[in-house]
Amino acid sequence: MLGSTLRTILRLPWRIFNRCKLKALQHYNRLCHPPKWHNLRSTKPISRVFGFDRGTPIDRIYTNDFLQANAHFIQGRVCEIAENTYTKAFGNNVTQSEILHYTADNKNATIIGDLTQHSTLPQGILDCFICTVTLNFIYDYKAAIKGIYLMLKSNGGGA
Ligand SMILES: C[S@@+](CC[C@H](N)C(=O)[O-])C[C@H]1O[C@@H](n2cnc3c(N)ncnc32)[C@H](O)[C@@H]1O
Repeated sequence: MLGSTLRTILRLPWRIFNRCKLKALQHYNRLCHPPKWHNLRSTKPISRVFGFDRGTPIDRIYTNDFLQANAHFIQGRVCEIAENTYTKAFGNNVTQSEILHYTADNKNATIIGDLTQHSTLPQGILDCFICTVTLNFIYDYKAAIKGIYLMLKSNGGGA
């Protein structure tokens, strides 16, 4: 307990430095590489990383606002897709943070499962599922929504 608190405190200057570095880089990219509005025929994207190298992408502004407004639901056993950034940023009283990934190549994943293949998913174990920027990538999105529903405790079959 003391060890982890000390580690968090010792990492703080490094995290502040990295944050400042990122902000400076985003500012530089916006200032020095503005969109060429006079040549909208260019097929080269302004950003190859969804705009994260230039600031906060516009969809994430809405995502952040939504999660902030619903932060009181982000509690207990919380699952997120591929990472737990939003769980850490907006969670309250999170007892267990799960990361779902559908291939085994994510070393941080705690659950390997395909949302559309319900037999690969643990059922009735979650209090909250944060599903951002994912359903739009899944052809059978209705099956994926059912998969999420089945993983939640309130699905009727869970605790
Ligand atoms: C753009 S990422 C979004 C994840 C991230 N939490 C975010 O908000 O940026 C899309 C994710 O969907 C996952 N994914 C795609 N099809 C899936 C499926 N059938 N079941 C579970 N995850 C899936 C991919 O592995 C990928 O991590």
